[in-house]
This record gives sequence, structure tokens and C-alpha cells, in this order.
Amino acid sequence: MRDVAIIGTGMTKFGNLGRVTSRELVTSAALEAMNDAGVERGDIDAVYLGELSGDIFEHQMHAAPGIPDYLGLENTPSTRVEAACASGGLSVMHSIMAVAGGFYDVVLATGAEKMTNLPTAHVTEALSMCADDIYEVSLGVTFPGAFAMMARAHEMEYGTTPEMRAAVAVKNHKNAMDNPNAQFHKEITIEKVVNSIMVADPLTLYDCSPITDGAAAVVVVPWEDRHKYEGPAVKVRSFAQASDTMSLHDRPVLTGFKTTQIAARNAFERAQLQPKDIDIVEVHDCFTIAEIMAIEDMGFFKKGEGGKVTLDGVTARDGQIPVNVSGGLKAKGHPIGASGVAQVVEITNQLRDRAGPRQVPDVNIGMTQNLGGSGSTIVCHILERGD
Ligand SMILES: CC(C)(COP(=O)(O)OP(=O)(O)OC[C@H]1O[C@@H](n2cnc3c(N)ncnc32)[C@H](O)[C@@H]1OP(=O)(O)O)[C@@H](O)C(=O)NCCC(=O)NCCS
Repeated sequence: MRDVAIIGTGMTKFGNLGRVTSRELVTSAALEAMNDAGVERGDIDAVYLGELSGDIFEHQMHAAPGIPDYLGLENTPSTRVEAACASGGLSVMHSIMAVAGGFYDVVLATGAEKMTNLPTAHVTEALSMCADDIYEVSLGVTFPGAFAMMARAHEMEYGTTPEMRAAVAVKNHKNAMDNPNAQFHKEITIEKVVNSIMVADPLTLYDCSPITDGAAAVVVVPWEDRHKYEGPAVKVRSFAQASDTMSLHDRPVLTGFKTTQIAARNAFERAQLQPKDIDIVEVHDCFTIAEIMAIEDMGFFKKGEGGKVTLDGVTARDGQIPVNVSGGLKAKGHPIGASGVAQVVEITNQLRDRAGPRQVPDVNIGMTQNLGGSGSTIVCHILERGD
């Protein structure tokens, strides 16, 4: 197996982007990443696309070949990867595996979703299909509902208060103020989160990530080839994926994800690192409770402490371990298939000192955690500053 580098990043603005297709969005993000890396069209050996549902959102299935088509990469192999909200993370992971395995030398890992074509109720229904249809969706469970059950369980088991959850949203909205690509540029307060409209008790509007359009891309090459290209390289130290039951009722606990624990543990073992070695993290905060559970399950904090440390500022941009400096899914936005790629974009840019006004000083090792469904798929990456 070869060591792997990421040498270029690109992403579109996230938000309601109006009359544009996901194919156009990926093309824009991919060209930015290729330009950043200094790779030419002829260099690209393969494309991966993380996308949940071009069929429902855009009446377009078989979206993968559309990307090389629009990029002018004639006949280049292109593969769509779908794992609910973890589609983007898996697109990056499969790109890394293809390069590590020696099958390709230059791979474009992309992800996108064009969600705002449909009204909220239709989006909610489409997303709910990523939960268990037999035991959950058919009985009315939606993702806000599923995460509300987890929030309630965490509250009952560990005393995690609405204010602690709200602190996740306040932090991530503050971080997004310095991210020009973020959907929201609006600071909020704990009172505003707690008193905003109820979506699924106990989760309010500001506990939820929004409905978003957007795309992101990174260029993946063998580590040994990194100096052939312009973009400063970041080294892939490890990646790991885990799966769990589709249905929540099959799990012994609702206060965390075994998948996050396993994927993070395996990623740490493969990289020969520990949580204390990580300088910066992007986690899957589709709902505020998800960030709290992620930072506990990844081993940064003891189970039950995630809410309190967030309220205390430990995960702020200038805190002990900055979490979701990009604004996270909560405030940067959550275009499903793009989100996992955008996490890797943020960590790569931070490790290359290219994160602009939100740059965290002295970061050498960063990590991502991307979640699909009710945590039924998790994928983690650990990246290191290059030379
Ligand atoms: C929370 C949610 C239901 C709100 O949708 P909605 O009620 O249709 O909201 P609207 O689009 O009508 O927006 C109403 C206002 O709230 C804002 N808003 C919408 N969603 C928001 C969010 N998640 N956070 C903060 N503000 C939000 C809008 O910008 C708008 O503000 P404005 O009036 O100042 O323009 C929707 O964002 C949602 O379903 N989120 C979860 C998505 C999801 O499940 N993703 C997968 C996770 S696993």
C-alpha cells in the first residue's frame, strides 16, 4: 500500500443556490480543487461522487458520469458512492483507497447535493428513507425525531441540558461568521436557541442543521508524487469506517454511537495516535446533540461530559480542542453528499495554513467524523500537515 496525500481543495458556497444543478456545483468545486493542486485535466485518472439522492432532488440518477462529462475528462471512470449523510466521507475514503492500492495516481474525490428544489416536508421525507423503513419511517420517525430521542436519552442519562446543546449551535454559528462559504452568517445566543420554534421535542430550529445546496472536492495523489504538483500536501495518516443496525430499537444505548467509537478507535490505532494528539476536529453536527455525542464517542471527552465542556468553551476556536471551526453542518450548511468532503476540505486547509480568518494556529494533526443515517455508517479520517 502507498501513502496518500491530499494536494488540492475546492468548495462552492453552501446555501440556497437557486437554479443550478449539482453537476454544475461539483464542476465548480472540482475545478477549484484542480487549480489549487496544479493538476491538469489529463492528469485525472478517476472521479468519485458522494451523493445521496440526485433522483429525488433533481430527477437525475446515474449522476457520476456527468462530472467528467462537464469537466472535459473524456471517458474517465466515475463512481457514485451513497451512504446517506456519510456519502461524502466515503467518496474521499474510496479515492484514498484507490490511490493507496495503486489503481490510480490522481483521483478527484467529490460530493454534492441540491436539496432546495423541494419544500421542507419533501426533503424530510426523502432524508427519512435513510432510516429503517420497516420499523421507523413507516411509523413516522424522521431524522429530527430520531435525534430528539437521542437528545432526550442523553439528557436523562447524563443531565445534558438544553443550554449545553445550544452552546454547540452558538459556537458553530460564531465560527461560520469567518467562513465566506457558510450558509449562515448570523451570531445567535443560547436564549435564542432554547426559545426558538420546536422542531422535534427537545430539539428546536437552532438545534438542527439546515437544508442546503453545495459541493466540495479534493485531489488525492500518492504521497511520493506530492512534489510533482503545486498544492501543498497534507498526509492521510488513516481512515476507518464502521456500520451498525439501521434501526435505533436494535441498539442497547441511544446516548452515543458504537460506530463512532469503533471507527475512531481504528483510525487512531492505524495512525498510531491517541485523541490527545489531535489538534483540530470536524464532526458531524447534523443536530447539536450529534456533536456532543461525537466528541465523547471519539474519546476526546468522557461520556456525559460533551455538553458541559462545550458550554465551558473547551471546543471553541481558541479552546483546548477546536471543534467545527468551519461552522460545522449546523451553520456552514449540510448539503448531504458534500458534507463529508467539506470536512476534509476544512481540515486540509487548516493543516496548510490556508483557512483565512478562521485559521487555528499551530495545528499539525486533524480529524473528521462523518455520519450516515442514525449513525448506521461512520467514516473517520486523520490527516497530518505535510512537508
Ligand atoms: C429545521 C428545519 C425543519 C427548518 O425548515 P423550515 O421550517 O422549512 O425553515 P424555512 O426554510 O422555512 O426557514 C425559516 C427561517 O429559519 C431559518 N432556518 C431554516 N433552517 C434553519 C436551521 N436549521 N438553523 C437556523 N436557521 C434556520 C431560515 O433561514 C429562515 O430564516 P428567515 O426567515 O430569516 O429567512 C429544516 O432546516 C430541517 O429539516 N433541518 C434538518 C435537515 C436534516 O434532517 N438533515 C439530515 C440530518 S441527519
